[in-house]
Amino acid sequence: MAKNVLLIGQGGREHALAWKLHQSPKLAKLYAAPGNPGIAEFAECVDIAVTDIEGLLAFARKNQIDLTVVGPEIPLMLGVADRFAAEGLAVFGPTAGAAQLEGSKVFSKGLFEKYQIPTAGHGAFEESKAAKAYVRKCTPDHTPVVVKADGLAAGKGVIIAQGWEEADAAIDYIMEEKAFGEAGNRLVIEEFLEGEELSFFAISDGSHFIPLLSAQDYKRIFDNDEGPNTGGMGAYTSPPVYTPQLHDQIMEQIIAPVVAAMKEEGLPYLGVLYAGLMITPKGPKVLEFNARFGDPETQVLMPVIETDLIDILEGAVEGTLDQLQIEISKQACVCVVISSPGYPGTYHTGYEIQGLDQLSPDILVFHAGTRTIGDKLVTGGGRVLNLVARGEDIKAAREKVYAEIGKVNFTGMHYRKDIARRALT
Ligand code: AMP
Ligand code: GLY
Repeated sequence: MAKNVLLIGQGGREHALAWKLHQSPKLAKLYAAPGNPGIAEFAECVDIAVTDIEGLLAFARKNQIDLTVVGPEIPLMLGVADRFAAEGLAVFGPTAGAAQLEGSKVFSKGLFEKYQIPTAGHGAFEESKAAKAYVRKCTPDHTPVVVKADGLAAGKGVIIAQGWEEADAAIDYIMEEKAFGEAGNRLVIEEFLEGEELSFFAISDGSHFIPLLSAQDYKRIFDNDEGPNTGGMGAYTSPPVYTPQLHDQIMEQIIAPVVAAMKEEGLPYLGVLYAGLMITPKGPKVLEFNARFGDPETQVLMPVIETDLIDILEGAVEGTLDQLQIEISKQACVCVVISSPGYPGTYHTGYEIQGLDQLSPDILVFHAGTRTIGDKLVTGGGRVLNLVARGEDIKAAREKVYAEIGKVNFTGMHYRKDIARRALT
């Protein structure tokens, strides 16, 4: 029977999910809350905020929603999956308890330690004096050390300190000045790891998992990884560092043990396992887990997953992922994000976006921060658009995006010119 699906979220990630859901023969009707003008091509957008859990629930009941898919982390932390499940509604995403894997560094680091999942050595602290003493003990030679706020801090809660003085300042900033509010009631001090970063995505039903694929994200605003961190300025699939041997290590040492550990802890994990990894000379180590799809990584994952997305999401909800055979295209995929002038600092919106109708049909356009004024499409956020292309290899996919991106135009638009360049050398 065809399904009514409710997609929660409004960014590029959700546009990519909507694009993929729309291709499913099992889809009856797709709704998005609140969605965006790009998503509106595939879904009826309803004006309910992602944090309005009761509003989402009432909408789902009234519109006979068969499956709800949660994009961002905030509603997960607010317990959207718990509330929907309690009402007997199928929902793809972890409970608030299981989402602590992303929402609390103290929880996740404790779990990795207990189950011997490879990660940076760490200490967890509730007061700054002990944290500072630990820094001195771990880095007698004043080498770099990582200070992390326990809770969600919009990607800003991680500080790499170059020695004791900076570490002390970071600890005070998080714990005493409460720069990230309650998220800084506790903190984690971590060993500094060196290597190449990689994201890996898998889907878990609580007992079984299916691996999707790996991707690399570009976090800084400017080329050559300069400037402040952003939500992500581009991504590409299956970077060269990701070998079959590394795949096996990630499955055996990280993904499988995390699924088993969460079950053992009484917090079976249903949803996306997004592992942020450092590939060190001693093998892959976990930097963090996220409880949702990545943005912009989803924009490169969806175009190469050949399996029906509703089959994957339902397999997770029903606990039958062990029976699902997943097909992934051999093609490579590259995404370049176009952002507003000033982002990630303050920026203006409302600039008319032109040229999208000139793009080759080979290019997928996923909207992040856009809105409409009359029949005009204008900028509406920091990250505005994602341009995505597939190709026989990373080089071909990358060339397609960069050959077309100049056709898009709005006042002050910015994008990185070096996305996926690292994969070519
Ligand atoms: P997280 O939010 O924990 O993934 O950290 C954000 C970023 O900080 C990561 O993408 C890494 O670039 C960096 N980072 C976090 N933890 C470490 C670590 N232990 N060693 C080196 N870099 C780290
Ligand atoms: N691309 C980083 C994130 O989704 O958190």
